Amino acid sequence: MRTTRRALAAVVGATALLVTSACGPGEDDTAASTVEVFTWWAGGGEKAGLDALAGLFTESCPGQRFESGVVPGGAGVDAKRVLAARLQHHDAPDTFQVHAGAELLDHIDADQVRDLSAEYQTWGLRDALPAGLVADLTVNDRIYSVPAGVHRANVVWTNDQVLADAGILVAPKTLKELIGNLERLRRSGVESPLALGRDWTQLMLLESVLISDLGPKRFSGLFTGTTQWDSRAVELAIEDYARIVEFSNTDRDSLDWPEATRLLIDGKAGYQLMGDWVTAEMAANTFSGYDSFTFPGNGKTFQWLADSFVLTTGAANPEGARCWLETVASPRGQHAFSLRKGSIPARTDAPTDGFTDYQLEAVADWRSGTPVPSCAHGSACSQPWQNAANAALGAFSTSGDAIALRSALAAAAKQFIRQP
Ligand code: BGC
Repeated sequence: MRTTRRALAAVVGATALLVTSACGPGEDDTAASTVEVFTWWAGGGEKAGLDALAGLFTESCPGQRFESGVVPGGAGVDAKRVLAARLQHHDAPDTFQVHAGAELLDHIDADQVRDLSAEYQTWGLRDALPAGLVADLTVNDRIYSVPAGVHRANVVWTNDQVLADAGILVAPKTLKELIGNLERLRRSGVESPLALGRDWTQLMLLESVLISDLGPKRFSGLFTGTTQWDSRAVELAIEDYARIVEFSNTDRDSLDWPEATRLLIDGKAGYQLMGDWVTAEMAANTFSGYDSFTFPGNGKTFQWLADSFVLTTGAANPEGARCWLETVASPRGQHAFSLRKGSIPARTDAPTDGFTDYQLEAVADWRSGTPVPSCAHGSACSQPWQNAANAALGAFSTSGDAIALRSALAAAAKQFIRQP
């Protein structure tokens, strides 16, 4: 089976599929006791979070071996492509990372993942997870994945020194103030004040602007059909987005998110809009001269996404995979993962000791804020919808054609929206 995986990675022209296991030389390597965990967490805080879970798994699941099937690439853009090909070729890993919400629906429809309702019962998960998240995970009264943690997408990260050098000491509260600060940074000699990466990171930025301009309710309606993409409000938001993108690095389309974060760390930019996994990247680079604020105009909106794990229908080792899921679901697992990954536990009863001030604030905001889902990170959009939106943003980055962007986004919504 391992040969097939590697061969398949080559066939789909993928970025390297790295398979590593927690087993030492000479140890038993039978498929029956190996659990392949497929993710896109290949480095930095992402790998650190995965490693923490793998360590706990080895401790809690005697006789089971952790095998990491990993395809690097932020937000899983490459991993999802490889995974789709593997599933199609009946070469399923035992479990894979998937965003909770709309992204999971395609896998459920294709019967690629198993119903975990009984496990939720046995592990007491319905009570341990927030009711809203359980509702988002439930499809036709069944539940198919176990969340490892919750991330927030609509956060701006700063390089405090760069801002101070330009005389910027206060976080902007509105889009107008943000644009004013970007202009000020540029006047002070920072050529690209906003660090930005490739397509999906651009979609994240557009989503934050849409939340500001439409408000959380109308924003969420973009993904359920109650708000129209070809409306004047979206047109105005795209104008704001275009204005902001003008302040970003021109090589944005070739950068993954850690490379864009590098621009911030190196003092080449003052701001970056990114999910809060960035805190783990800052820590890995021993950079502490940063601050963060909710994207200007988003108010108390918490744009959420959750990394979750499934039990595949094609799993070679379902019992081992169940033990992985139980580890992920446990209070210890959720704590160990978030501590390194920068997320917050999805469980409400997991410990928070050792968390950063940012994480403690995120825990409070997750309880009190207004939740909205993310298209770039699968809680709002299916996989094909994400692909179409990413492509539209990538094309806009080159052409600057706002009309084409809005019609491509409207067409994607029309094609991929799911009627409730
Ligand atoms: C995932 C995070 C990950 C980020 C960047 C998101 O889609 O949910 O776990 O850190 O992408 O790769």
